[in-house]
Amino acid sequence: MNQTSSVPFIIGHRGAAGLAPENTLASIRRAKVEGATWVEFDVMLSADNVAMLFHDDKLDRTTNGRGVMAKRTADALQDLDAGASFDPAFKGEPIPTLMETFAVLAAEGLGANIEIKPARGADVVTAEITCRLITEAWPATLPPPVVSSFSRLAMEVARDLIPATPRAMLFGKLPKNWRAVVDELTCTAVHMSHKHITPDLAAEVRTAGFPIRAYTVNDPKRADMLDAMGVTSIFTDRPDLFSS
Ligand code: G3P
Ligand code: MG
Repeated sequence: MNQTSSVPFIIGHRGAAGLAPENTLASIRRAKVEGATWVEFDVMLSADNVAMLFHDDKLDRTTNGRGVMAKRTADALQDLDAGASFDPAFKGEPIPTLMETFAVLAAEGLGANIEIKPARGADVVTAEITCRLITEAWPATLPPPVVSSFSRLAMEVARDLIPATPRAMLFGKLPKNWRAVVDELTCTAVHMSHKHITPDLAAEVRTAGFPIRAYTVNDPKRADMLDAMGVTSIFTDRPDLFSS
């Protein structure tokens, strides 16, 4: 498998989102059980600026709450059930804070890709708070995290606040000017949708010297194809399908 750093080929997506409720501590622990050594998760701010693990703008899909996540305080969010809508067996699983997550990563010895996922209009503050927590509290026993975002604004803040931490710009489809964007943001890798990766595109990114990490890949055959193209990592909801 193609690996250019301590980041492995398999990265658990939102923990192990195909096996446990996404972006919960149960999901992160499950990724470890299934053999993952790194996980990805999304960080969004509560109304009182607590960094928490959450993906959608709204609470509806993954919790028993309704409405916009970023309008609730951390206390209110932590009273919600983020487990039962995935499976009743996970009833009561809460939305974790980023700090709680750091403790679990340290206990499990898991590396992480921290995706900054700002609520509408909160790009700068979400990046500032996430970067501050990484600076002050990232577990010293773990390899440095990789910080990523679809948000250019968030990645500008990350570049300025944590220049020595590996950072990756997130794309769906790679834009023609990807190299200028990545250079401007001093990113160390490209993260993008596997659906838009072709052999030529992968070769272009790899020849330019950047690892390319692809989301979200749940089919081992597709993972083999991406590996053969030079893709350096995949994000998968199902790390169990890839454990040896
Ligand atoms: O970071 C990779 C992947 O998680 C990006 O897309 O929407 O799942 O956060 P999304
Ligand atoms: Mg994500």
